[in-house]
Amino acid sequence: MPDYSFDTILVDVEGGVATLTFNRPAKRNAMSPQLHRDVATALERLRYDPAAKVIVLTGAGKAFCAGMDLKEFFTELKDDPAEYDRIFRLATEWRGRTLRYFPKPTIAMINGFCFGGAFSIVEGCDLAVAADDAIFGLSEVNFGLFPGGAVSKSLANIMRPRDAMLYALTGRPFDGKRAAEIGFINYSVPAATLQDDVRALAAELAQKNGEAMTATKEGYRHSLDMTWEASMAYTQAREGLLSKNQNDAFRTTGIGDFLKGQYRPGLESNSNLS
Ligand code: COA
Repeated sequence: MPDYSFDTILVDVEGGVATLTFNRPAKRNAMSPQLHRDVATALERLRYDPAAKVIVLTGAGKAFCAGMDLKEFFTELKDDPAEYDRIFRLATEWRGRTLRYFPKPTIAMINGFCFGGAFSIVEGCDLAVAADDAIFGLSEVNFGLFPGGAVSKSLANIMRPRDAMLYALTGRPFDGKRAAEIGFINYSVPAATLQDDVRALAAELAQKNGEAMTATKEGYRHSLDMTWEASMAYTQAREGLLSKNQNDAFRTTGIGDFLKGQYRPGLESNSNLS
């Protein structure tokens, strides 16, 4: 098993599901430079850990993540431009690229406060479920800044234009129910059932075919930036790769078992393919 001991996060892998917990509850899990280093390293190890089929990201205590660490990043690094740039790049990379194109499905489980830079964590994850009473906010304008780094792009990617402008310009907080209404997350549930609900969702994904889920993510995410022609060419090539990697299992076992009348893919997964 890879080394999953870190200063600022906890990583637990069980039943195919890895849970990565931001673990600075006294600082509302603000993203310090060390937290960025730890998460980037953990994601690299989880990427190649066959025991981790699905990744859940959450926070310890009453916060999911209070955004960038306003003290350790913005203040303490202000006279060290090289280190400021290094952490900025790392911070942008793991949320904006590593998470978004992670080969395994990712779920943000938003248990509490979620501010500023944490929006990019939520956006980078494939799925997001929050507690009804979680508090979201694009608070940057409240301290005279704006959604910088990866955050503006996250808003443009996933929020409706009117909501992005309303919440970024006012800094007005909103709860988990509202986050679901505006499509920033999939849905919200009572805080008391959040963990069980997300555990069930993660377990459902962990039973699916990993290669098919990776291709699902890649097909969707790459198509967002492609012309129709490029997307058709890409998905055709990707289908060939998937088929080759799995020795044509989607036909022989997947479609084959259906044609033998052994299961109905419209209603259930083929357990021979997980
Ligand atoms: N960066 C650094 N430290 C932070 C932080 C952040 N983003 N958010 C919270 N903390 C620290 C506080 O400074 C405080 O530290 P201290 O105990 O050493 O003084 C501790 O976390 C608890 O914060 P506090 O404000 O007392 O907790 P709260 O539960 O009453 O409120 C928040 C929580 C998240 C609403 C509030 O801390 C806040 O507004 N934080 C800033 C959030 C933000 O604007 N993030 C955007 C960054 S891009």
